[in-house]
Amino acid sequence: MNLLSVEGIGVDFGGVKALDGISLDVRKGEVFSLIGPNGAGKTTLFNVITGVYKPQRGAIRLLGADVTGFAPWKLARAGMSRTFQNLQIFGRMTAIENVMVGRHRHEGRNFLANLFTLPSVLAQNAQTTRSAREYLHEVGLSHTADRPAASLPYGELKRLEIARALATEPTVLLLDEPAAGCNPAETDSLASTIRGIADRGVTVVLIEHDMKLVMRISDRIHVLNQGRSLAEGRGEEIMRRPEVIAAYLGDHGSREALRA
Ligand SMILES: Nc1ncnc2c1ncn2[C@@H]1O[C@H](COP(=O)(O)OP(=O)(O)OP(=O)(O)O)[C@@H](O)[C@H]1O
Ligand SMILES: [Mg+2]
Repeated sequence: MNLLSVEGIGVDFGGVKALDGISLDVRKGEVFSLIGPNGAGKTTLFNVITGVYKPQRGAIRLLGADVTGFAPWKLARAGMSRTFQNLQIFGRMTAIENVMVGRHRHEGRNFLANLFTLPSVLAQNAQTTRSAREYLHEVGLSHTADRPAASLPYGELKRLEIARALATEPTVLLLDEPAAGCNPAETDSLASTIRGIADRGVTVVLIEHDMKLVMRISDRIHVLNQGRSLAEGRGEEIMRRPEVIAAYLGDHGSREALRA
């Protein structure tokens, strides 16, 4: 069964069709990439999948169940987690505290126990801290744990968002341009991190403009253009498609991607 299905999704903003009849299926444990030019509708599709926007047409299914129009918190509880194209980090909290915010979903919420700081709560805090450290380690940020998030460079903040998303223990992780603003070395290690996440069973849906990264880690690629699906397939095949080259990659971009 497909983990995530997008079925005939349509979204209008005023008279503009931001998404027009988008259908795709994401399989468990794969890295599924969404690419396409600026304004193609990639982030809008993430917003529909994660319940930020309700589509005018079509349906979203998670493990076969219709979850169209569910509130974001409900989808998060059902195993969906995401990062944002614009960072959503708490600057005055430390890196590890930012990750612990993500853990919240897995903690019991016994008001009285919290009020009196019972031993069980302290034990739970210890467990939360321990797993937050593990997620920081997974994204290569162990050294930043106790620093205020605002003091981290941009590339590290992007990773911190991934760690926080992982802390919700998602079944599907949606990443919106994780490599934007990263240097080549950072992008390289990001590639291994994301592939590692998928290899331990977390399905990844990736929006990204860095074609080297996309080529290196994607199982399949879906191309959007002006709100419509242009192509879907494996890396090399997609990078050679004339319509994808014409709408997005350009000849140079296609050659670069194929060299990656
Ligand atoms: N809330 C909104 N209200 C009105 N129009 C919107 C809204 N969100 C997106 N759009 C429009 O929908 C279209 C798709 O935008 P979207 O942000 O999904 O593109 P994208 O593929 O993520 O682009 P980029 O690569 O630049 O991030 C654009 O024309 C955009 O201006
Ligand atoms: Mg976008």
